[in-house]
Amino acid sequence: MPTTLFRNGTVVTAERSFAADILVEGETIRDIAPTLPVEAAGRVIDASGMLLMPGGIDAHTHLDMPFGGTTSSDDFETGTRAAAFGGTTTLIDFAIQAKGTRMRDALDTWWKKADGRATIDYGLHMIVTDLGEAGLDDMDSMVADGVASFKLFMAYPGVLMVDDATIFQAMSRTAKNGALICLHAENGGVIDVIVRKALAEGKTTPIHHALTRPVTAEAEAVHRAIAMAEMAGAPVYIVHLSSEEALNQVREARDRGLPAFAETCPQYLLLSVEELARPGFEGAKYVFTPPLREKRHPPKLWEGLKQDHLQVVSTDHCPFCFEDQKSLGRDDFTKIPNGGPGIENRLQLLYHHGVNEGRLGLNRFVELVSTTPAKLFGLYPRKGALAVGSDADIVMWDPKADHVISSRTHHMRVDYSMFEGFAVKGNARLVMSRGDVLVENGLYHGRPGRGRFLKRAARGGAWN
Ligand code: URP
Ligand code: ZN
Ligand code: ZN
Repeated sequence: MPTTLFRNGTVVTAERSFAADILVEGETIRDIAPTLPVEAAGRVIDASGMLLMPGGIDAHTHLDMPFGGTTSSDDFETGTRAAAFGGTTTLIDFAIQAKGTRMRDALDTWWKKADGRATIDYGLHMIVTDLGEAGLDDMDSMVADGVASFKLFMAYPGVLMVDDATIFQAMSRTAKNGALICLHAENGGVIDVIVRKALAEGKTTPIHHALTRPVTAEAEAVHRAIAMAEMAGAPVYIVHLSSEEALNQVREARDRGLPAFAETCPQYLLLSVEELARPGFEGAKYVFTPPLREKRHPPKLWEGLKQDHLQVVSTDHCPFCFEDQKSLGRDDFTKIPNGGPGIENRLQLLYHHGVNEGRLGLNRFVELVSTTPAKLFGLYPRKGALAVGSDADIVMWDPKADHVISSRTHHMRVDYSMFEGFAVKGNARLVMSRGDVLVENGLYHGRPGRGRFLKRAARGGAWN
């Protein structure tokens, strides 16, 4: 079996940092010790000055997703390759149940999309749009297939939104089968009325996307989601949380001891609503939901990450090209496909703006980008850990590497970057997935199809 030895690195886990060597045998971590013999190793990698961290886990991506009259521009080949460049070795994408069909149909469709294309390992959440007759039983059968989480939408009426009865029924089922319900929490009905009024008043430009989706619509939905989960006796996970008021709802619930969890994304930590007012339709590059908020929100979200009111940073990577996809909404902001790219830049941005700028400790960084998503979504300790027996998903991180984020050099299949020109210090030098080196010194060695579907355990957000 091929063996690789990382020598003289600093191992960084969610719990601690320490000097050690790591021995990889085949797909697995075999040993971690202060000094391991080099003789037995097929390849020895000098990790002096480097951090050795568990591969990143992005729990929220949309590859090859039909949405807003088009399809997200990264598929499982290009998206997972870009993820690998940025140090992400596992992602959890979303299969979408089309109304009137079974969840199994959606699972088959998404397996086909990923099969032969993914270069890193992936799991799937199931987006439930219609419980119908068999939906609750179907949820159990999804769990048996390793789809241990479901996303429901409280927004996008007529497309993905479901009513409270559906959400409550689904939560009541996960209270029994152990899966985790993820919610896109915005009051879609209210937003729809505000949007129609704006359009009737001739307000059609990208900034109106943000102006028609108030913070209160998010906070109210987060409150309602948590209240329904409490009544159902189920844990709940709020996706892409964007505002202070929404965060307060999660914090209040956690203070009461409820199993409420939430993620935010780099765009909500680093950008603000002014981006949507850029001249010449450029604001469309920043049209996603929830929208970017005023500048008062990001510091609160950073503090929430530090204090564990927020547990995960994912990307909500949902790229649409500016030229021929975002342009669908040139005359009407509601026709701009909602979503933005970021799968490649999550670790770079969080490391630089979090660790380098003193907002997060190194171990908390690992916890947010890898260990907690693994625990919440039933992948731990196979993923999200550097431990004997875990998959050898290892990022050798160069804390001194300078990098300028740009669409000219990124690997995502999209013609712009939301973080164009952002200078970061700290980048992945080598990325290993189950013992295979996928990226080394900026060169790609991965292969489409080597990534495997991950059957995840339904632990309802429980830690172990
Ligand atoms: O605008 C977004 N966030 N697009 C992706 C779909 C979703 O709501 O997560
Ligand atoms: Zn969403
Ligand atoms: Zn999303």
